Amino acid sequence: MRSHYCGELRASDISADGRQQVILSGWVHRRRDHGGVIFLDLRDREGIVQVVFDPDREQSFTLADACRNEFVVQVHGIVRARPAGTENADMPTGEVEVLGQELVILNKSDTPPFQLDEHQSVGEDVRLKYRYVDLRRPDMAQKLKLRSKVSTFIRNFLDQNGFLDIETPILTRATPEGARDYLVPSRTHEGHFFALPQSPQLFKQLLMVAGMDRYYQIAKCFRDEDLRADRQPEFTQIDIETSFMDEDQIMGLTEQMVVELFRNQLDIDLGEFPRMPYAEAMEKYGSDKPDLRIPLQLVTVGELMQDVEFKVFSGPAKDPNGRVAALKVPGGNSMTRKQIDDYTKFVGIYGARGLAYIKVNNKADLEEGLQSPIVKFLPLEVRAQLLERLQAEDGDLIFFGADSEKIVNEALGALRCKIGEDLELMTCAWAPLWVVDFPMFEATSDGGITAIHHPFTAPSCSPEELAAAPLQGLSRAYDMVLNGTELGGGSIRIHDQSMQAKVFDLLQIDADEQQEKFGFLLDALKFGCPPHGGLAFGLDRLVMLMTDSSSIREVIAFPKTQSASCVMTQAPGVVANKQLRELNIKLREKVTDSQ
Ligand code: AMO
Ligand code: AMP
Repeated sequence: MRSHYCGELRASDISADGRQQVILSGWVHRRRDHGGVIFLDLRDREGIVQVVFDPDREQSFTLADACRNEFVVQVHGIVRARPAGTENADMPTGEVEVLGQELVILNKSDTPPFQLDEHQSVGEDVRLKYRYVDLRRPDMAQKLKLRSKVSTFIRNFLDQNGFLDIETPILTRATPEGARDYLVPSRTHEGHFFALPQSPQLFKQLLMVAGMDRYYQIAKCFRDEDLRADRQPEFTQIDIETSFMDEDQIMGLTEQMVVELFRNQLDIDLGEFPRMPYAEAMEKYGSDKPDLRIPLQLVTVGELMQDVEFKVFSGPAKDPNGRVAALKVPGGNSMTRKQIDDYTKFVGIYGARGLAYIKVNNKADLEEGLQSPIVKFLPLEVRAQLLERLQAEDGDLIFFGADSEKIVNEALGALRCKIGEDLELMTCAWAPLWVVDFPMFEATSDGGITAIHHPFTAPSCSPEELAAAPLQGLSRAYDMVLNGTELGGGSIRIHDQSMQAKVFDLLQIDADEQQEKFGFLLDALKFGCPPHGGLAFGLDRLVMLMTDSSSIREVIAFPKTQSASCVMTQAPGVVANKQLRELNIKLREKVTDSQ
């Protein structure tokens, strides 16, 4: 039903003899009546072209006149150059137009719920409810096209490097990636539930035991967790596992994949990715996914503050779990009181109880040259050491965070990014890196420990060293970070059964629970498991960054809302009692918060 896509017509398609017809099929983007001539902007997946109907051809002219936005039509016509002076340099097809000779209305359309070029003014819920209309917008189509190109490129890259595409089950058991599971009741096993996979982690390890050597899958993963701009309950991983490769080889290969992808699709050279130990990332950026486009850094100033009169500082400075850190904003002392108040509110989101600051007006005058609500609490020599440590100059502003290490890192880490954006401090467009040397475990609020990556990650120390000081032990995990977003993460796995059992012990997962939850993995480790490791990228996040989108919802055809529902299909929905009875499920009368 077509010879060309609308959006692909160019000057080279102009009919030399004025008779060669093209056939276009698409949607009426806009109809304009210009003094007896009707223009239809015709749109398909590839873009928009202008079609002109003269009154000489009465039948098609009358039909064109009857067309309304989003009618589906087919046009036979002749491609010709636009008259001089009417070219449109903003449109890829702007040099040409099509003289419409025949028009067929294939389908009518009700008035669309929003004008395609006015989507900004409608709420996201309306866009999601009529997603099939929203996706007609050329920039949305462009994002889905790039997404398709990205997964094709990655499939080809991995295929050429000897990876096998193997599917793993969706109806399975819980996989411990730290979120809540989505559960599916079993009809045939009363009272039993499948869990949807949070990732294919255990299956891909079993595929290594099975000798598949190099596996990949573009895999759907399901996590019932708090949603944010870069999180969806259902998302897609580029999931990778290899045998007999160490972390340098895995990082090398996957870095090459991402570098070639950016070069191939966006003509961008990401360069070589630096590697940064986790401890350094937390110390300097307060985050394990630092945005290195922003040139600001956190500086620990705890030792200077141990004996100051100001308890807000001296308390955390003396506390082994506390931190006092400073963030210098060069040239920041022109910030208004209102801006500082707003930033104080902002860090409050992360639990900070305040945001002390010093404006450096004249660093040579330690008595009068520092403007601050707290400087009076700092002895002159502390002021001098502070300015020295921060290499502060006149005109700078210094923010302070003092609290538990966690709160200071989260608050000042987020403030660093916010100020970087607000003051447009970005030094480059793309800043990739690897974060390495993660700790194995972190403390939980109830005094226990939990795996930072997942419990199958290999430590880089011996089991004895790990047992002696679990929170000090480092792991063989690595994360790829791009512009402050964690694109992917992975690790070398434990392939030795006794080490796996030791890690479960340290996590206080007892023998029965180990057997019940992961018995099949522990069994497999006994039957010749090769050394192996891998990682998984978030495909949605990758495409979000590549298309400069503000949320992963923009690069998913049918995403869920912030409250994990689908406004178009109304999922999740209630089910009939008959279905519940078959599943042996009885709903409680009324679920209230207190129950
Ligand atoms: P991890 O949990 O770090 O590791 O996930 C890997 C990558 O998946 C993406 N991601 C998400 N994207 C969108 N919405 C979500 N809710 C979401 N959660 C995670 C991120 C993240 O970096 N099995 C391990 C990988 C491994 O060890 O090989 C895993 O799932 O980009
Ligand atoms: P206050 O003594 O509460 O009046 O605070 C004096 C200054 O210290 C104010 O500018 C507060 O914003 C700041 N402040 C208070 N608590 C903290 C904290 N935990 N970290 C950093 N600054 C703080």
